[in-house]
Parts: sequence; structure tokens; C-alpha cells
Amino acid sequence: MATDLDRLFSTAAAAASAFRDSVGALSAAPEAGFDEILARFETPVPEQGTKPEAVLSELLEKASDGLMKSTHPRFFGWVIGASHPAGVAADFMVSAWGQNAAFHSPTPAAAAIEQVAEGWLLDLLDLPRTASVGFVTCATVANAVALSAARSRVLANVGWDVEADGLFGAPPVRVLIGEDAHSSLFSSLQMIGFGARRVETLATDAQGRIKPAALEAALKAGEGPMVLILGAGQINTGDFDPFADLIPQAKAKGAWVHVDGAFGLWARATPTHWHLTEGVEQADSWATDGHKYLQVPYDCGFAIVADRAAHLKAMTQWASYLPTMSGGERVPSAFVPELSRRARGIPVWATIKALGRDGIADLVSRTATLSQRMAARLAAEPGISVLNTVVLNQVSVAFGTGNEARALTEQVIAAVQAEGTCFAGGSLWHDRWVMRISVSSQLTRAADIDRSADAIIAAWRAVQRG
Ligand SMILES: Cc1ncc(COP(=O)(O)O)c(C=O)c1O
Repeated sequence: MATDLDRLFSTAAAAASAFRDSVGALSAAPEAGFDEILARFETPVPEQGTKPEAVLSELLEKASDGLMKSTHPRFFGWVIGASHPAGVAADFMVSAWGQNAAFHSPTPAAAAIEQVAEGWLLDLLDLPRTASVGFVTCATVANAVALSAARSRVLANVGWDVEADGLFGAPPVRVLIGEDAHSSLFSSLQMIGFGARRVETLATDAQGRIKPAALEAALKAGEGPMVLILGAGQINTGDFDPFADLIPQAKAKGAWVHVDGAFGLWARATPTHWHLTEGVEQADSWATDGHKYLQVPYDCGFAIVADRAAHLKAMTQWASYLPTMSGGERVPSAFVPELSRRARGIPVWATIKALGRDGIADLVSRTATLSQRMAARLAAEPGISVLNTVVLNQVSVAFGTGNEARALTEQVIAAVQAEGTCFAGGSLWHDRWVMRISVSSQLTRAADIDRSADAIIAAWRAVQRG
């Protein structure tokens, strides 16, 4: 006899698999917009409760056509992974089990699985095996956590305890960052009191990579506590700062080097693209995401810090009502800002287990090859220009030239999204508006690239005809 719970959870599971099975045949963009969906949901606070099955069926009925199809094989918007089914199933269990994965002893399964996932991540990314990993919501928070550890260590080196005494009256810290760094870093810097505006920016080249001469000049210009922020995977070009050149220069001056590799750090997980990250292991901290290239369901980021003590000092909290920390054990919440937290290590473990080292390497290599294919198809069409050298999975495409290029590019993006064969968004790259194509899904194949390129070219031809 099926219980109410069986019926409820089976309905959710059936709806989930029906969605996944059919998503490739749907428009890659949402069919209904925000206002339409809001009108369906917007009611006063319900005075009485509703049976869970009715709640679920209302949710499915009212939300389904307002979903972005990030699990569609032709979804190229931003860098959004396709949420691997094994990770999704594990994530269902995380919700069903309702673990608060803060501590070691009260939730042993969550803590043990996260610890194993930590080791796997360091192995796959070939980073120091003694580094610590904080499992956070996203790369923005991962950047903030890693930069908090940086702040702690560079100030401790000059005798200042920032966790105890804050930044009031602290020795100034120089923060050096590339001109084309991701917006999330500025958000992270403002969160930790370093200020988004008081950074020193370093000149970059056409691919958004820091020029070694710019760093050399900045390093000559001053001493003192210093943090250098580098990038693995520039958002528009996918390119990488020259780590092997930059990191030793900065470390020789005592700087902490942090690398934002939200998606690009995963190039390290494949022999075909490992070279792009050469030397990155010499940095002090790294931020990357699970929910981008690794296909872990939302939300999941990793703050990786070589200096475990600095990481712990920046994040650990304890109170008498919490489980005792005997020392030595890996306490999941001690590496992240939250105390109560979702057991993110579980879907990470499941996704890595399902893909395996080979599957991850294959995913990164394949999407890089597919990005080249997309770039070649589009660049062959008159009036379409690929603005970046495609090194990984980003293709930045401009339509037309001169003053009209921005409007034309925006029109093509709107037409492509409305037509629905594929989905791509827009971005500003070195003063030019581009269609930004990110190939990051384990589901995308060559036929998807060809169909999508045909749809984009058709939209461009239609825009030209007016
Ligand atoms: C290079 C880079 N850094 C940081 C981020 C921020 O990541 P998240 O959205 O997980 O906070 C992104 C997101 O696209 C990114 O591409």
C-alpha cells in the first residue's frame, strides 16, 4: 500500500524524470516570463495549510513553463552546468535526510562524505593534497572565504590579528587584480572590507590575461602586506593568466596569490588542457565551482586554501552548546561562513563518482572541441566575428561592424532566445557587445553545435534582412 509519503515523493521523482527526458525537445529559453509566473503565484499568505501533494501539483503546474532550460543540451548561457542526474538524486536525499552538516559528530555520514570529496577534488585538480576545501554556495563566496584567509595571513605576518581586531587601524593591504577580473571578486573584496575601489588594477592583453610587465612594475612600486588575484578562465575569452610567470614574482615579494577559477580551474582535470593551468598549483588559494563545469546541482562552490591554519582562523566559530572539537577532526563548518548548512559534499561525491576522472577529463576536452567547432561555424558566415581565441569553452561573437554592431548583436541574441533552438546571452567584451556562448554541459554533442550554429546564422540573416 502506497503511503502519502510514497505518493508525494514518487510524484516529484516522476515529474523530475519527465522533465529531464523531454527537456531537449523544448525551447531552450523559458516560455513564460517573470510577470506571468508572478501573477500565478502572487497571493496573500495562505491562512490554512494545504496537503503536500496539492502543493507539489500546484508548483509543477504553475512553474514549469517559466524554467530556464539549463539542463538542455543546447544551453550556452553563462557557465551553468547541467546538474548531473547522480548529483540530483543525491541532492534529493540530502533534502530528504535533512542533515545540518555543520559538525563532525552529529552528522557523521555528511562529514565523512565531504571529507572524501575534499580529497577527490584536490586530486582531480592536482592541488596540494594538504590544502583545505570549504564547501560553499558559489564561487563568489569561495572567493570571499579564500580572500579572508589571505587577509588573515598577510596581516598576521606583520603582527596584526584581523579576526580579533578587525581592519580599523590595521596596516594597509595592497590588492592587485587584473583589469578583466570577474565582478564577483569585487563583490568578495567589498564583503571582507578590502573595498572594491581601492584595488590596484593590472593591465591585460586582448585575451584578458595580466601582462607580466604590469605585475613587475606594481611589485616594484611598493612593499608591505599584499594579495595578488589571478584568473583561470576569463569570463568572455576563457583564457588564463600566465601563472608560471606571475606567481613566483609575487611570492618572492611575500604576496598571497589567490586564483579565481570558477570554471577554468577544471582545465586542470584533463591532459588535453592541463597546460593552460601550468604553475597554478604554486598559488596560496583557489576558488572554483561545483555547479559549473563539474555539473554538480546548484548550489555548490569550493574555497581551497593551501594554508589550512589561515583558512580555519578566518572561518571557525564555536560555542558551548555545539559539539566539542577535540582537535584534528575535519569540521565541515570550520571552513565556511555558515554554521547551519546543506550537506553539499554529498552531491559532489555522487557527481564525481558518476563521472569518474575519465568522465570529467572527457567532459572538459569535449566541450573545448565543441567550442572550437562553434567558433569555426560562426566565423565562416559573413558579418559574424569571433572576438576571442578559443582556448577552452568560451566563444564571444559580434554581429556586424561599426556603430550598429551593438544593436545588431542584441537583436540576434533576442531572436535566438525567442526561437529557442539554443540559448546564449550577451556580454560586454573590451567595449564591444557580444553574444557569449559557453559550452559547459555534459549533454552537448557535435549535432547540437551544428543545429545551434544554423539557428544563430539564420537569426543573423533575418536581422540583416530587417
Ligand atoms: C570567472 C568567474 N568567477 C566567478 C564567478 C562567480 O561564480 P558564482 O556565480 O558561482 O558566484 C563566475 C561566474 O560566472 C565566473 O565565471
